[in-house]
Amino acid sequence: MSDQKRIPQHVAIIMDGNGRWAERRGKERYEGHIAGIEPVRSSLRAAVRHGVKYLTLYAFSTENWGRPAAEVDALMELFCQSVVNETPELIRQGVEVRMIGDRSRFSEKVQQHLARAEEQTAGGKALTLILALNYSSRDEITRAVKRIAGHVADGTLAAGQISERTICESLDTAAYPDPDLIVRTSGEQRLSNFLLWQASYAELWFPEVLWPDFTEKDFDRAIEEYARRDRRFGVLNK
Ligand code: IPE
Ligand code: IPE
Ligand code: MG
Repeated sequence: MSDQKRIPQHVAIIMDGNGRWAERRGKERYEGHIAGIEPVRSSLRAAVRHGVKYLTLYAFSTENWGRPAAEVDALMELFCQSVVNETPELIRQGVEVRMIGDRSRFSEKVQQHLARAEEQTAGGKALTLILALNYSSRDEITRAVKRIAGHVADGTLAAGQISERTICESLDTAAYPDPDLIVRTSGEQRLSNFLLWQASYAELWFPEVLWPDFTEKDFDRAIEEYARRDRRFGVLNK
C-alpha cells in the first residue's frame, strides 16, 4: 500500500478531558474548555498538512445539556466566540465548516453564529471541518427514522425499498464518508453516543492525553497509529 493510501480520509475526534485538565490545576471547568481551543487549531493544521479531507470534532453531546447551567452557558459563549474569531483563519486555510446534530435546540444567537461560519467558509477546498453540536448518534438515527417513515407514509418510498443507503442518506452525515479513524483523548475507551452507525469499520485510538494538552505531535501519532492498522472489512487480505 502506498503512503498516500495510509492517510485516513476522515478523522473524528472525541475531545475529552477538559474538565479534568482544569480540576488538576485548581481551575474552573470552563477554563479547561477555553484551553481546549488551541488543540482544535493544532489538529486542523496537522490534518491539512497530512492531507486529511474531513475532520469531525465532537464538541457538545445531547447529553451535555445535563451539566450545570453555568458550564453549558460558558460552552455556548465559547462556541459563538470561537466561530467568529477563527473564521478568517479557516477561510485562509481553505477549511469549510459544517455541522451535524440538532441545532434547533440552540438559542437564535448561537444558531446565527454557526450559520454565518458555514456560509463564510463555504467552498473551502483543503478540508471539511464537521462540528458535532447537540449531537448524539441515537438522536440522529431517530430523526433519520422519522424522516424515512414520513416518506413511507406519504407514498414516496416503499418500505421494502429501504436499504442501508436510504439510512446513510437520511443521517446528518449523508454528504460525508464514514470516519476511518476515531480518536478519543483522556484515556476513556467508549464512544459516548458518537457516530455509532458510521463507526462500523472505523479504527479506534484512545490516547491518555487530556484534550487541552493535545498537540500537532499527538495528531501525527494518530496518523502513524492508523498507518499500522490492518483494515479488513470482514474479508481476507492477501
Ligand atoms: C470534553 O471535556 C468537552 C465536553 C464534553 C464539552 P469534559 O468536559 O467532558 O472533560 P472531563 O471528561 O470532565 O475531564
Ligand atoms: C463526550 O464526552 C462528548 C464530547 C466530548 C463532546 P463526555 O465527557 O460527555 O462523555 P462521558 O460522559 O464521559 O461518556
Ligand atoms: Mg468528559
